[in-house]
Amino acid sequence: MKLFIDTADLKEIQEAAQWGVIDGVTTNPSLVAKTGNKDFKQVVQEITKLIDGPISAETISSDAKGMVEEGQKYAKWHKNIVIKVPMTEDGIQACKKLADEGIRVNVTLVFSANQALLAAKAGAYFVSPFVGRIDDAGADGMQLVRDIVQIYKNYGFKTQVLAASIRHPVHVLDTAKAGADVATCPYKVLKQLFRHPLTDKGVRQFLDDWKKLQSG
Ligand code: G3P
Repeated sequence: MKLFIDTADLKEIQEAAQWGVIDGVTTNPSLVAKTGNKDFKQVVQEITKLIDGPISAETISSDAKGMVEEGQKYAKWHKNIVIKVPMTEDGIQACKKLADEGIRVNVTLVFSANQALLAAKAGAYFVSPFVGRIDDAGADGMQLVRDIVQIYKNYGFKTQVLAASIRHPVHVLDTAKAGADVATCPYKVLKQLFRHPLTDKGVRQFLDDWKKLQSG
């Protein structure tokens, strides 16, 4: 399973890149807005220097023509850029057009398995079910991931399932158990994946015992 970082914060991406286990980056307009940098091209190009893997850049047009034009423009910025379009009629139309041109597309804001079916039929490279936001609405976000994995398997769709809106480590575990291709995680959740109190305790104990041996 691939692990992506879900942020546009260059410091977070830089630190995560050093771990050597991050396969890609997802951004969205809210995450870019958080950085305060209005130069979207610059933000995306800086990210491409830090991680050598798929970098999702989201379109902001509401019509298919605009999304296609934005997608064609962003795709020229770097070979690793994947164009994010929303799960709307226009988004699906743009996805099909861009995919036919060989441009990789991530269909985002997916909240149902039928939407994921449409994204796959439009040739999406990634489909992004928003797990946490479904949980927030009182339903089971991870069941959507399981359903999409099963449907894609049934029909041999090549679209990769990218679990998004991940809020905590159990979401990552369940994404892996569901057989999804990618979990895109906020920096905080990635940091949490490392931690276990018994690891910390064990490291302390080994070092204490080693010091005792040296001073004995
Ligand atoms: O990748 C999508 C993600 O950024 C949305 O997360 O926490 O805003 O639902 P959240």
